[in-house]
Amino acid sequence: MEDANLEKAIRQHFEMDSFFTDGFAVRNPTVMQEQIGADKVAHDKKIELEKIADEVSQCRKCGLGSLRTNPVPGEGNPNARIFFIGEGPGADEDAQGRPFVGRAGQLLDKVIDACGLKRSDVFIGNILKCRPPENRDPRPDEIISCLPYLQRQIEVINPDIIVALGAHAARTLLNTNKSIGQLRGQFHEYYAGLGRPPIKLMATYHTAYLLRNYSQENRKRVWEDMKKVLAELGLPIPKRGEK
Ligand code: URA
Repeated sequence: MEDANLEKAIRQHFEMDSFFTDGFAVRNPTVMQEQIGADKVAHDKKIELEKIADEVSQCRKCGLGSLRTNPVPGEGNPNARIFFIGEGPGADEDAQGRPFVGRAGQLLDKVIDACGLKRSDVFIGNILKCRPPENRDPRPDEIISCLPYLQRQIEVINPDIIVALGAHAARTLLNTNKSIGQLRGQFHEYYAGLGRPPIKLMATYHTAYLLRNYSQENRKRVWEDMKKVLAELGLPIPKRGEK
């Protein structure tokens, strides 16, 4: 939708709102202007993210492009404050073209829910946009080819916090060889580009790792990491997160 049409649609929405509530819900003009500005930013971000997804769907920069069933560009709220980043699509994600929809995804949904959030509040993506055969580890050439898409998504969304799920995501984004055990539990800085302030990055265990090593201790560690994220964002910390 063109900018003028978008603004018109938002204005009509407010006017209708006001009409049906007999003026009870009339916004003051500054609040209304701010809302129009915020809606426009979200709209522009959505268009940019769709452009990136479209490029991903045409991409043949590495061999994975011709092996995939569907590309998995990532999905979520363009205005997300948290961007979860995993390693790469598995079989379920490849079949559906959506990130984190298999068993590891269902556990990620539980983590998000324990945080008092919904999947639609956050953005979810991966280092690789196409499934490596047999779910093998991403190869360096594949990461190098694919990373610019993720970097652009981060730039567009500009989240307050990135949560890197597992060693591949954390090491790639932080450009380090340290283990996930060394990296998790503390904030690091992700540099989105010169002249841009760094984005806080929390590394934690991948939910697929958690499924394979489903101990109380590991679940508690992930919850401790997420509590730090919520505290940093000034969000309330629900009581039931350790379960
Ligand atoms: N594991 C990942 O790293 N990403 C997905 O999308 C699903 C499982």
